[in-house]
This record gives sequence, structure tokens and C-alpha cells, in this order.
Amino acid sequence: MSRMTVNGRPVQFAMDPDTPLLWALRDAANLTGTKYGCGVGDCGACMVLVDGQALRSCLITIAEAEGRFITTIEGLSRDRSHPVQQAMVAEQAIQCGFCTPGIVMSAAALLQGNPAPNDAEIKAAIPNFCRCGVYPRLVRAIERAGRVARRQETISAAPAPGISEQDAAKAVPAMQAPQPDEDN
Ligand code: FES
Ligand code: FES
Repeated sequence: MSRMTVNGRPVQFAMDPDTPLLWALRDAANLTGTKYGCGVGDCGACMVLVDGQALRSCLITIAEAEGRFITTIEGLSRDRSHPVQQAMVAEQAIQCGFCTPGIVMSAAALLQGNPAPNDAEIKAAIPNFCRCGVYPRLVRAIERAGRVARRQETISAAPAPGISEQDAAKAVPAMQAPQPDEDN
């Protein structure tokens, strides 16, 4: 049994301890916002925050994640109001969107430690691959998100996802309050 906190909720995974965190999140917790790209640490599609640090969840086992605080794209904000999410939409830094959750998590971690990154710092901190090539807009979005985080600019919140928080929680077990002795 591997226990950790996912998006603010205690979760226990009754799975092989060597299971990559990515698969526990996607297959057991139904948190499918975290994407599988390469599975070997190259693409960054699977990026999540582990104790506030952006890490590739395909490279971490659930045993290694034991006792740690995991944040996935679903937990970054409940209403898409995180500055990075707002700026990504405002700058249209999304095409197919497959890479977007991982990029948002990398950018959120960057701005947490450095709310005013320059171009070089952004490029160094965002190792994620984007097959659609949104990189120039991505840099602009992260710079803009920094200005929002520093309260130098505001962006209207991105549209609500069209599903209530309560309904979303029904479909995402890890977002629900844990039951006593509940596995997974
Ligand atoms: S799926 Fe984890 S880095 Fe590509
Ligand atoms: S937007 Fe398509 S892979 Fe990045």
C-alpha cells in the first residue's frame, strides 16, 4: 500500500510499489490530465508537482512518492484560474493540447520559485516537448503569467469547464474524500 496526498486528498494505492506514479494517477485515480508521452523521461507530458517540484511521473514509483504531496493539473486550480492557465489561454499557447498539462505544471513550478523569469530561464526550466511547436507563444504566456502572479496585470479567468466541481469529483475518485480503509 502506497500512501500519499494527491491534490490535497489522502490517497492509498493498493498496487505494486514499483508502479510508476503516472499509471497510478491515470489508471487508479482516474486523473487523466497527466499525459503519457514517451514513458522514459524525455517528453515531460507526465509532469506533476511533487512537494512543489516539477517531476516526471513516469520516472517515479509510487513507493518513491510515499508520504509526498502530489499536485496534478486537476488540482492546480479548480476553476482554471491559475495564472499560467489563464495566460496560456490568453496567448493561445495551445494547439492540440496534449503537451499542455505537463507544460503548465513545469511553468507553475518555475513561477513559484521565480515569478519574473527571463527568456533563458524559461527555456531552461521548461524541458517539455511540444510537437505542435507552440514555443514562442509559450514563452510569452509564461512571462505574462509571471506578471499576473506579481499582480502587475490581470486576465479574466478562463471559461469554466462546464461541469460542476461536485460532478467532476464523482468521476475522479482521488478528488473525493477518502473512506475509512478504502484502497486505491
Ligand atoms: S511520459 Fe514521462 S517524460 Fe514522457
Ligand atoms: S500543443 Fe500539441 S503537442 Fe503541444
